[in-house]
Amino acid sequence: MPDAATRLPTKIDLGPVVGRRLRSADLGDLAAMHADPAVMATLGGPRDRATSERYLTDNLAHWERHGFGMYALRERDGGRFVGRAGVRRLRLGDRDEIELAYALCAEDWGRGLAVAACRTLLGLAQRAQLADSLIAITLPSNHRSRRVMEKAGLVFEREVEHVGLPHVLYRRRLAVPAAYRS
Ligand SMILES: CC(C)(COP(=O)(O)OP(=O)(O)OC[C@H]1O[C@@H](n2cnc3c(N)ncnc32)[C@H](O)[C@@H]1OP(=O)(O)O)[C@@H](O)C(=O)NCCC(=O)NCCS
Repeated sequence: MPDAATRLPTKIDLGPVVGRRLRSADLGDLAAMHADPAVMATLGGPRDRATSERYLTDNLAHWERHGFGMYALRERDGGRFVGRAGVRRLRLGDRDEIELAYALCAEDWGRGLAVAACRTLLGLAQRAQLADSLIAITLPSNHRSRRVMEKAGLVFEREVEHVGLPHVLYRRRLAVPAAYRS
C-alpha cells in the first residue's frame, strides 16, 4: 500500500531522547518492554512476542494509512530503546478520536519523558491541524499517567469503557488557526 502523505514528522526531538517512526526493526525492543509486568500492569498485562508483532504490524499500517502514528524512543547517544509514544486513531463508542499513547521502559520512569513526548506531539498535531482535540485514556488507578496528562495540559472529561474496563478520558483542545475562525 502506498504511504499516505506524512502528516507528522518521522522524527521527533525530546532533548536527550529522539523518537523515530516505528519500524519493523523495533520488534525486539518493543517485545522486551511488552514482556515486562511492571510496564504492562496498566496495559492489560505482559504480551508475548506474537502479540507484540501484531501490535507492530497494526502500527506500521497506521502510519501508512494515516501519515502519523507511534514512534520508537531512543537515547540520542547510543540509541538505547526507552519506550514508545505517539498519536493514533481510536474508535471510542460512536466517536473517532485521536489519542496520545505512551509507554516507557521501567528504568526510564521519572525522567519526564512522557510529558515531553505529549507536549511535543500536541504541538506537532496542532501545527498539522490533525484534529480539533487530542485525547488520552487510562485506567482510573494509573495516577502516574493521569499526572502526565495533566502536566501536558489535558483536562479530565468523563469516564468511558474501553476493552471492557472503566477508563478515564482526558482531552486537550487544539487552537483553531485564525484563518479558520469566523
Ligand atoms: C505512564 C508513564 C509513561 C509515565 O512515565 P514518566 O514520564 O516517567 O512519568 P513520571 O515518572 O515523570 O511521572 C509523571 C508525574 O507523575 C507523578 N507520579 C508518579 N507516581 C505517581 C503516583 N503513584 N501517583 C500520582 N502521581 C505520581 C510524578 O511525580 C510526576 O509528576 P511531577 O513531575 O509533578 O512530580 C510510565 O509510568 C509508563 O510507561 N507506565 C506504563 C505504561 C502506561 O501506563 N502508559 C500509559 C497508558 S495511558
